[in-house]
Amino acid sequence: MEFFEVVEKRRTVRDFENEEISMDIIEKIIGAGLKAPTNDHMRDWHYIVIRDKSVVLQLLDIIPKGISEEDMNQLIKDWNLSDNEQQEAYRNAVPKQHKMLLDASVIVIPLLKQKTDILHPDSISHLNGFASIWCSVENIFLAATAEGYACTLRVPLGNEGEWARDVLGFPNDYFMPCFIGVGKPKADADVIKQKDIDVKERIHWDRW
Ligand SMILES: Cc1cc2nc3c(=O)[nH]c(=O)nc-3n(C[C@H](O)[C@H](O)[C@H](O)COP(=O)(O)O)c2cc1C
Repeated sequence: MEFFEVVEKRRTVRDFENEEISMDIIEKIIGAGLKAPTNDHMRDWHYIVIRDKSVVLQLLDIIPKGISEEDMNQLIKDWNLSDNEQQEAYRNAVPKQHKMLLDASVIVIPLLKQKTDILHPDSISHLNGFASIWCSVENIFLAATAEGYACTLRVPLGNEGEWARDVLGFPNDYFMPCFIGVGKPKADADVIKQKDIDVKERIHWDRW
């Protein structure tokens, strides 16, 4: 697939077929993740790939399986989601947080080595490792798309990161930025409309 076609086709998918994904494809996709730019040249990243549904169930046990209409309305208020399209996107995504990861063919947990307190950085450069792993995440999304698969993503809320550490046994000096689900999109998978943005309005030549 041509590069700009991959960029256009890469969309967050939350409705997956019940289908296996080969280890070769997983290795190819994560290999692309390992080619991302890196702050310190080391790419000290690891990826836990979870295929075993009993581990998946344990890992996801902490994630809410749905949300009431009332709580959804409250969340929209609390998170100041004022844009109509944004609200629709959240109304679609929030109830699927558990199922999208359960139904994905595999869950990938990227891990970065973090030497300083990531939640209380002394300077922006202390977030370089975190920024780098997100470059890796995007490469994974693009590579999965190029291979005919799609990804979903959840940033851990509350204790979900610590829970994942207990379930998966990764070391204390590694930090998990997100859960990634990879799978074959259902033929009728919801793909939420992206906001229309005119690139010309976002580029500021020479000065803002
Ligand atoms: C940093 C980051 C955090 C995100 N967190 C979540 C999440 O917790 N749950 C979820 O379903 N999607 C999450 N997403 C996916 C976004 O909802 C999605 O990228 C956005 O709605 C745009 O849709 P698109 O990816 O199809 O273009 C996240 C994406 C990013 C980049």
